Amino acid sequence: MRTTALRAVAEPGSSTIQPENTKDKQHNNHKPADSKALMQNYSRYPVEFAKGSGAYLWDTQGRQYLDFLSGIAVTGFGHNHPVIKKAVEDQLNNLWHVSNLFESSGQESLASRLAENSGLSQVFFCNSGTEANEAAIKFARKWGKGRSHIITAVGGFHGRTMGSMSATGQYKVWDGFQPLTPGFSYLPFGDSSVLEDAYDRNLVAIMVEPIQGESGIVVPPKGYLKSLREFCDKHDLLLIFDEVQTGMGRTGKFFAHQWEEVKPDIITLAKGIANGIPLGAAICSEKVAKEITPGCHGSTFGGNPLAVAAANAVVNMLDQETLLKVERLGNMLMNAIEKLNIDSIKEIRGKGLLIGLELAEGVSAKAAARKLLEKGVLVGTSGDTVIRILPPFIISMEEILAFTQTLKEVLNA
Ligand SMILES: Cc1ncc(COP(=O)(O)O)c(C=O)c1O
Repeated sequence: MRTTALRAVAEPGSSTIQPENTKDKQHNNHKPADSKALMQNYSRYPVEFAKGSGAYLWDTQGRQYLDFLSGIAVTGFGHNHPVIKKAVEDQLNNLWHVSNLFESSGQESLASRLAENSGLSQVFFCNSGTEANEAAIKFARKWGKGRSHIITAVGGFHGRTMGSMSATGQYKVWDGFQPLTPGFSYLPFGDSSVLEDAYDRNLVAIMVEPIQGESGIVVPPKGYLKSLREFCDKHDLLLIFDEVQTGMGRTGKFFAHQWEEVKPDIITLAKGIANGIPLGAAICSEKVAKEITPGCHGSTFGGNPLAVAAANAVVNMLDQETLLKVERLGNMLMNAIEKLNIDSIKEIRGKGLLIGLELAEGVSAKAAARKLLEKGVLVGTSGDTVIRILPPFIISMEEILAFTQTLKEVLNA
């Protein structure tokens, strides 16, 4: 069977999915004396934030920072947004939790807005991106009635729990946690010529990010998402888009796949959906939703009233004008960076306010992010050489200029 060979593509130590480069590991080794009880699974920067407003944060010493990370593509409407805050406060004053055993008009209205914006039919709510993808994997297999094989992409990222981790095409994410959940194989991202060879009768779905986020803002060639749709239609497969990072307006469309006008069967969401209150969602087409009956999947906290109140406020604000603004700001920011003519930037890529800067070999993205932080600017990184720029949708031209000025100082130094 062809898929056996494909699975081998992602075997530990294979050339396609490489173990993590540990070169830069020492950078963030800060461990405060009193942090013994905290699991050391993050490389934290030695800064603690005490307050946020709009695109700004203040640390415990009162120092101000410009936030071009947005909690890793989460706080799209900035910190302490008055409308979102009021929605959560009103809910907080009434009711925090009753469980999904009872009706929820907040969930109903959020679900109908997400269905409306996606053209899909029904929504399952959970608490995070990885859970949204677990749901998508389970729903696809339920729909497939015995078919279980799901193709994902090399370099893709879908989460840290067993199913979503196994769907993730990156050895460094699996390392130490094998065996993986069976039933996944990994194809090169952006290459539709390899699809037909990957088909087998057990195949039920293809799951990809419309733009790979954690791998360094990798934009596939135009037409790729459409070719996935055509392949899925030809073989009666589900197309799943993981929009956990790209969705909720981040690229200048409500969902990033809408740039290609394709319609998937399942969309997963989290990150920006509730501007920082934990919430995830799997939006499904009617044929998928039809298979999901009471008792077959669930979550105690999923669709919590506080998170849903925040998400309803977010969806209300994510109108056409805001989406156009995100697109415009993204173009302005990318142009402004290009105009700096910085030698150590090899490539600027992305869509809307999901931007990656590929640095020249030997220039450490983590070191640059640390320097930017020292100068009062937050950005993200990916691997050794990509700076990730994920500002909130509310940034001004002055903030773009302040950011580019600091970026120039750091990268030219
Ligand atoms: C595309 C994508 N899917 C899934 C996840 C996992 O989301 P979470 O950390 O909320 O579980 C992430 C997180 O970075 C992501 O970028």
